[in-house]
Amino acid sequence: METQVIQIDEKHMEQRLLKQAGSIIKAGGLVAFPTETVYGLGGDALNPESSRKIYAAKGRPSDNPLIVHIAKLEDLQPIVKEIPETAQKLADAFWPGPLTMIFEKSDRVPYETTGGLNTVAVRMPVHPVALAFIEEAGGYVAAPSANRSGRPSPTSAKYVEEDMQGRIEMIIDGGDVEIGLESTIVDMTVEEPMILRPGYITKEMLEKVLKSVGEDKTMMSDTSGQAPKAPGMKYRHYAPKGDLTIIDGEAEKVIEYINNQVPSLQKQGYKVGIIGTDATIARYRGDVCKSAGNRMDETTIAKELYRILREFDDEEVTIIFSESFDTAGIGQAIMNRLLKAAGHKILHI
Ligand code: TXA
Ligand code: MG
Repeated sequence: METQVIQIDEKHMEQRLLKQAGSIIKAGGLVAFPTETVYGLGGDALNPESSRKIYAAKGRPSDNPLIVHIAKLEDLQPIVKEIPETAQKLADAFWPGPLTMIFEKSDRVPYETTGGLNTVAVRMPVHPVALAFIEEAGGYVAAPSANRSGRPSPTSAKYVEEDMQGRIEMIIDGGDVEIGLESTIVDMTVEEPMILRPGYITKEMLEKVLKSVGEDKTMMSDTSGQAPKAPGMKYRHYAPKGDLTIIDGEAEKVIEYINNQVPSLQKQGYKVGIIGTDATIARYRGDVCKSAGNRMDETTIAKELYRILREFDDEEVTIIFSESFDTAGIGQAIMNRLLKAAGHKILHI
């Protein structure tokens, strides 16, 4: 299959191109598209055959449910059993935006889309290209992140091309994404809504709208033995080819520890990559040293993390050390993804 790549600028969206992309979805094909979090791999959420194709293109186990993307609030009701009052409040506060909510599904949503579950994950993204595309596609677009299973989620169309060339009909290039980490997922089917995956919308932000919000305990710790509530969180996503260890401690000690490891690892033939930050990166002596951004504004780190992990793969780095990040605000999402990438290898010094 030839994958067509088209450019759509969010400031001057060409309706003709959006229609073309939408008609591919309506005909049962797949189109990757930009959202504010990461690129999505879209198919018709109400067509079981489309969902099967998504799993095949990603190389993803089909028990891992997909998120259904909508473009307007009226489209929520037909695909869910009920909209709890708590969900209505969160939708008013955070939709469109990087929040996914889980509901009891209605009969219109096929089990192929929900990985066999009776619940469905729904999100209304804020990216103008995503919204216009979903409308043209018929209103319901199932989309996981547009990476091959096991690779970091794509934050630009170039990474989607790397992973999906020849596997899908079309890629909409809408430039680099804004946030860089996947949406916050909240389960609305339980008494106290529960965060299953941390993201840009934090617990503190949610608790400004609802009295209290819980957290899946497996989110930040080693999950061996305990199944996370979002099936996808059990897989070792985002795993770079190199062996990644997070070094947590006071900045000076971390720099010294990492630099001390480098010479003997190089002698053994390893290529050493280091993830630092703007303030520290010049002081590292690895083979490839990359700054993830500025600690004073951790959104910069969220935006660069997946790009860096992909670049380390391209540069065939075999050992990676990373600084550790705060777990407040977006930092919790950063550490959640980094811990997964590291298979929970973290050294406290
Ligand atoms: O930001 C995002 O959410 C991106 C963009 C494209 O919207 N999408 C995304 O999709 O990250 P994906 O498929 O890579 O991750 C979806 C996660 C998986 O961990 C999956 O197990 C969980 O959502 N999930 C989906 N439906 C669920 C359900 N009914 N119950 C529990 N977890 C669910
Ligand atoms: Mg994903």
